[in-house]
Amino acid sequence: MKKILIVGTGGREHALGWNLSKDRDSKILYVAPEKTSREVAELIKKEKIELTIIGPEEPLERGMVDFLNMNGIQNVFGPTKEMTKLESDKFYSYDLMEELGIPQARSVKCFHLFDIKKAIKMFEKPVLKYRGLAGGKGVKVCNSQKEAMEDLNLFLRKFGKDILVAERLYGKEFSVFGIADGKNVLPFKVAFQDYKRLNDGDIGPNTGGMGAYGPVQFVSKKLLKKINEEIMIPVVRRTNYRGFLYVGMILTEDGPKVIEFNARFGDPEAQPAMMLLKDSLYVPLKLSLEGKVLESSLDLKDGASCCVVLALKGYPENYEIGLPISGIEEAEKIEGIKVFHAGTKFENGSWKTNGGRVLDVTSYSRGLPQARDLAYQAASKINIPGGFHHRKDIALF
Ligand code: AMP
Ligand code: GLY
Repeated sequence: MKKILIVGTGGREHALGWNLSKDRDSKILYVAPEKTSREVAELIKKEKIELTIIGPEEPLERGMVDFLNMNGIQNVFGPTKEMTKLESDKFYSYDLMEELGIPQARSVKCFHLFDIKKAIKMFEKPVLKYRGLAGGKGVKVCNSQKEAMEDLNLFLRKFGKDILVAERLYGKEFSVFGIADGKNVLPFKVAFQDYKRLNDGDIGPNTGGMGAYGPVQFVSKKLLKKINEEIMIPVVRRTNYRGFLYVGMILTEDGPKVIEFNARFGDPEAQPAMMLLKDSLYVPLKLSLEGKVLESSLDLKDGASCCVVLALKGYPENYEIGLPISGIEEAEKIEGIKVFHAGTKFENGSWKTNGGRVLDVTSYSRGLPQARDLAYQAASKINIPGGFHHRKDIALF
């Protein structure tokens, strides 16, 4: 029996665990990401864990991988604290891209109010980016210099003065993933798209993600190869990066440009990605820990996958938890459907809501329109008192 520990308890981690449970002799354990590195180390030793995977960025930034490695635990998949700077320090990733000649938005690193105001005047439509981690909420995309100036005070109060001021880019967004072993990258051969805004038509506040799908049709095989060769491999070789590598891109009129790197799998992109994989990630992850990721493969099914997030009304600001959920089993009876749990708890024999984003209804089918229909059909089977909020336009544009 292979015991695999996943740090993290959201939809992404459930999807990773579901994929890894395809190995018939595997047992998956989950642990809350808030646990200290010491507690996780003790659990790994007590349970004789064979492979540990860290899902979210926060424990990575705290240095959980470093701590476990220093305590003699080597089978940990994820970047060290230093490598996580790719995501946790936007000044660092900006400099790295400059050094490697990777296309990105023109930007200025600012440390003082004076610099910020000067930088805002450089771009017709500025973007303000907090330097550190902010759960996807540390970015303000502005339509004018005036708007940026007006929003500046609130932004500074929330995040302080270390701010990257960038030019606003226009184009379709997509994300690309790979498994890096310090030297090489085993890429996912399709791109994904996620939906960060709360409401249809990409309006409303930013969220942790309201849905995702893949493959993204406007990203060709040729473009994916170019991104692997000209972006992912150079970054991995320069930083000896190990772990899931996430490149957030925008397809501008001047070609594809990077908007961010993340040091983990995307959530909710992992959900459709896991639905498309033919096999368990176990072998690629184990080989990547030995620096031999290219000796494995990531074979994908033909067809497409679509994930619709069911959120509580009032999310992301305020919402009620502890509501009883019905219909999950019925949804999963539909062929090609898997329901991943993002914010639930099992209490007195039934599922209850336990977070703003509750369930990730994810489908697999032979084509994207079919996958989309299937996901919405399954979503309609699931209910809570008062109903869920979900977007109706996932995978439509
Ligand atoms: P990030 O946390 O850097 O991914 O930014 C969050 C979101 O802000 C991205 O998914 C984009 O939609 C948007 N964004 C970030 N940078 C830019 C930019 N330079 N131009 C336009 N939109 C951007
Ligand atoms: N899907 C966006 C993220 O994981 O950051």
